[in-house]
Formats: sequence, C-alpha cells, structure tokens
Amino acid sequence: GRKWTPVKYLTEALKGEEVLIRGRAQAIRAVSKKMAFVVVRERGYTVQCVLSVSPDKVSPQMVKFATSLSRESYVDVDGVVAVPGETLTGTTQQVEILVRKIYCIDRAVPSLPINIEDAARSEADIEKALQAGEKLVRVNQDTRLNFRVLDLRTPANQSIFRLHDQVETTFRQFLRSDGFVGIHTPKLIAGSSEGGAAVFRLDYKGQPACLAQSPQLHKQMVICGDFARVFEIGPVFRAEDSYTHRHLCEFTGLDVEMEIKEHYSEVMDVVGRLFVSIFDSLNENCHKELETIRKQYPFEPLKYLRETLRLTFEEGIQMLKAAGVEVDPLGDLNTEAERKLGQLVLEKYGTEFYILHRYPLGVRPFYTMPCYDDPSYSNSFDVFIRGEEIISGAQRIHNSDFLSQRAEACGIDVKTISAYIDSFRYGAPPHGGFGVGLERVVMLFCALNNIRKTSLFPRDPLRITP
Ligand code: 4AD
Repeated sequence: GRKWTPVKYLTEALKGEEVLIRGRAQAIRAVSKKMAFVVVRERGYTVQCVLSVSPDKVSPQMVKFATSLSRESYVDVDGVVAVPGETLTGTTQQVEILVRKIYCIDRAVPSLPINIEDAARSEADIEKALQAGEKLVRVNQDTRLNFRVLDLRTPANQSIFRLHDQVETTFRQFLRSDGFVGIHTPKLIAGSSEGGAAVFRLDYKGQPACLAQSPQLHKQMVICGDFARVFEIGPVFRAEDSYTHRHLCEFTGLDVEMEIKEHYSEVMDVVGRLFVSIFDSLNENCHKELETIRKQYPFEPLKYLRETLRLTFEEGIQMLKAAGVEVDPLGDLNTEAERKLGQLVLEKYGTEFYILHRYPLGVRPFYTMPCYDDPSYSNSFDVFIRGEEIISGAQRIHNSDFLSQRAEACGIDVKTISAYIDSFRYGAPPHGGFGVGLERVVMLFCALNNIRKTSLFPRDPLRITP
C-alpha cells in the first residue's frame, strides 16, 4: 500500500515501491509540454521528481500544473521510486520519483526575497559560479535574518539547530547521571546579577527591576536551599553595547552550580568530563549534520583531549610573553590575546579546548572567591574553544559579610541584592559553578564566524525582529 516516506529515507532499497512524499517544490524545470522535473525538499533532503506524460498515468495538464507551481510551495507527490542511470548532482538523494500525481498543499508567493539554493551555497562555490559568469545574488546576513523563516530552510541551518538540541540533551543527561537536578530560576529580578551596566531595566508594577543577566544569584541561593548540585538551561539577557561576532542581547545559558568539598578543581573536573561527553556526542550522533554544515561552511573537526588541559592564568601570560605578546599580568586578556594563546596552546598541547584558571581577582565578578594563598588572584576560570571564551566559572564567596564587603568594593548597590546576601547568613556550603553560552558552543565547535548563525532569531543591539 501507499505510505508516507520521509525524503531522507528515499534510497535504492525502495526501488519500484510506490511512495507518498510531502515537501517543498525547491526547483521546477519544464523540459517540454510532456515532461517536467520538480525537486522536492524536506528538511534539508532533496529528491528529483519526474513528470512524464503517459496515457494512463500523467496527463499533459498535470505537467502544466506542475510547471506552474511557485518555488517553496508545499506539495504532495505520489509516485514510484526509480534508480536513474547517471549520478544526480543537484539532489541529496540518489533515486528519482516517477510521479503519478502531484498536489499543491499550499502555494508560496511567486517571488521570494531569498533563493534557498543560493542561500545554501558555500563561499567557494559562489566565487566559482561568479567567475563562470553565472548570475546569482549573494545572500547577505541581514537579508537572511530579515527573512529567517526562509533562511532556516537551508540544509546547513537545519543541521545547526539539531546540534543545539544535541548539546542540550547531552548536557542534561550527563549532569543528571552525575547527581545534578535541573532547575529554573526567575528571569524577572530586582537588581543586576553580574554587576555592571549591561542590564535591561524594566518597571515591575512600580518597582525598578531587570531581566536576569544570568541565573547566578538564584542558582547559588538554591545551593543554600540544600540542592547540592543543580543545573539550568534558560534565557540570559544582556543589554550589550557590543557589536561583535560573538555577543547577543539574549542567549541560551547552560548553568551549573555545585557544592565544593575541598578545592575548586572539582568544578573544573565537571567541566572537563561534561564537555568531552558533549563533543563526543556531537561527533557520534550528528555525523550527517556536521557533514552538511561543512558543505556550506568548511571547517576542521575540533581537536580535544580525553583529559581536559588546565593552565593557570600565569602560565598563559608566560606563554604569551615568550611569543612576544605583552599583557597586563593582573588585567584581563583581550580577544586578540585569547586567540593568540589558543594558537600557542594548540601548537604545544595539541588541543583547541582548554581551561585557563586562577584569574586575577580584579577582573572577576564580586561574588568570586579570592585565592587563599594570594588574594590578588581568584579561584576562577574561563574555558576556550578555538581561542574564544565559551564558559566562565568560579568558586563563590559563601560568607555573607565578606560577600557584602566585596559587592560594595565593586560598586554594587547591596540593597538591591540583600535577599541574595542574606541567604548566606543561615549556614552555606563552599560552592562553585559555571555558565556556558550555548550559541557560542555550537558556533565554535563548527568554527562558524558569527554567533547570529547559531541563534534562531538573534537579538543584538540593532535587532529585535523577526
Ligand atoms: O562570562 P559570563 O558573563 O559569566 C556568567 O554569567 C557567570 N554567572 C557564570 C558563572 O557561573 N560564573 O557568561 C557566561 C558565558 C560566557 O562564557 C559566554 O559563553 C556566554 O555566557 N556569553 C554570551 N554569549 C552570547 N552573547 C553574549 N552577550 C554573552 N555574554 C556571555
């Protein structure tokens, strides 16, 4: 009998079978009044459908109807799977459908702001085509984002957001099996959670409030509430004034907070094992997706070690110094220095994923625990992929008086976070954690050049639609 078959599953094994497929008419080509081709695409997979007039099956009217379809219209095709004599280059599937009937489910407008086939081409491919004199319009980033529902239909985008799902799934599975509990903290909060000016302020029924810059304060409060190990996957809001390739005003935060028994290296242990497991799961479960992304945006697989490399900030400074890069030993690394250090680490240790820890206290948020042996440093770390930051983490101060003192020293209005500071008055365990930017993880794993490529509907300082 007839059955719905995903385009993805159309292979030689189905030769001679009658199938029913649903997808979009990606390309329509009339050969003559008696013959036409329609390439049907379903979630990034494409198959060629052949309409050829024959007395009992396909009428000339049906061929005419098919060639009148507008691109991207939704169609159902009823036909028989056949194996063509030649290799097909324009489709992902190597079989054809000999059409018996084609129905239009919903018509797209005749002229589209984005041509999906053009939007799916690699830069190298576009260059080659332009040199060969082919007329094509390069689809720029703004156009893609303005018409995101069309842009999302390209095979690379179909794959990118499947990687998101895989990262989230592995994050959750790994942590749950390690004794962590998933939580959700409020996103409407009274004061800024990271300090600094980059908050979206709002009016909360007459009270000043803001959108949470991170789950920082509440995830720590949950630790005070005796959930020894927690994680959260949720939105994070930053009123960034950064117009860069890696800053968004809203992103998905993956956060972890946990009790520490002896040393903040326990937190870095979790980071290392968690991320090796995330990278492994991407390589194992998203093979096809990675291949698809690589076709449009070529990249080398991420190099990472089984045992995650840890360097101290001072060691990092030394490596940079030896390479002729002077940086402030008690300042933060700028983007350029971070990139350079990434290269040096790769050359020396063969990894593009590593942890840099024991940062100068002065460049870390107020809640960060200073080092016991030298308070100009802190029990904190950043984590890098291909020379760019994806995580920051630390041990936190768990004494309320000290916390309040540090907040004041950092210029924070402690009144706005008094509930947080008071949480530590009733006995609190040593603890620490970290925050990850999901969009950055996917961007850097695939060496993509812009975080907007890994956000479904990116929010940046200039964009709040679509
Ligand atoms: O470094 P951040 O600001 O650290 C925190 O929010 C801490 N509460 C984390 C902790 O538990 N100590 O942000 C954490 C991560 C960054 O490493 C980066 O990957 C991502 O969030 N991130 C951004 N991603 C996209 N756009 C932005 N504007 C980002 N700001 C931070």
